Amino acid sequence: MQLIIKESARELFREAGEHFARAVLESIGPVFSAALSGGSTARDLLKTMRTDPLASRIPWSNLDLWWVDERCVPFESPHSNFGNARKDLLDHLPLSAGQLHPMPAQQEPRQGAMDYEHEMISAFGLRDGQLPVFDLIFLGIGPDGHVASLFPGSAALDERKKLVTAVKGGDPNVYRLTLTLPVLNQARLVLFVVSGAKKAETLRSVFSSAGGDALPAARINPVHGRVTWIVDRDAASLLPAQP
Ligand code: 6PG
Repeated sequence: MQLIIKESARELFREAGEHFARAVLESIGPVFSAALSGGSTARDLLKTMRTDPLASRIPWSNLDLWWVDERCVPFESPHSNFGNARKDLLDHLPLSAGQLHPMPAQQEPRQGAMDYEHEMISAFGLRDGQLPVFDLIFLGIGPDGHVASLFPGSAALDERKKLVTAVKGGDPNVYRLTLTLPVLNQARLVLFVVSGAKKAETLRSVFSSAGGDALPAARINPVHGRVTWIVDRDAASLLPAQP
């Protein structure tokens, strides 16, 4: 696990974008599969990636973009992760529709989860019981320690068979589709990006044994991959002094 602390939010997003770019540039496969979170941290990261030097460094044509979770609202809604990603980055890039895999948020949630799972099985060529391996999964963390739309105490945290499941909760408190922990923990690289003092107590809990598995973020332990935490000084303010 790597922890990188940046002095400011601006430096944080530049660093996170650089890690994203480097992961794409260093990947050897023909397609780089990434899964994006939503929320304000994601929005700031994607806006940073829209501008140079990052925008021209990333070979966008190699990317397949998936979503970690999605609120079951219209894409035009200000709460839509895909709708916001389009505004913040995707509509500014030469991406083909086939490179984008938004979650089917307009369907009945359980059906939407099944349909996204089938799309993933087809795209990754999965056999029964196989899990998709994303090259990079970008995660934010909620003040309650949630990741994706896996909230503390949710039964979805114990889902071991489904790749995608439907939950209700969060802010806004709506139905959501979310990747499950088995999928998140198959990633080659999990990139946590955390900004702001309101996340300091959460980070302290996640990084201390006291946090234990109660916090969903503490359950992110890639089976074969690695985790990089990129946090700003405010979010890291309660962490023990780093060597
Ligand atoms: C969502 C996100 C969620 C987000 C965290 C952090 O759809 O809500 O995927 O997991 O990453 O809640 O959100 P902020 O960056 O807004 O604090």
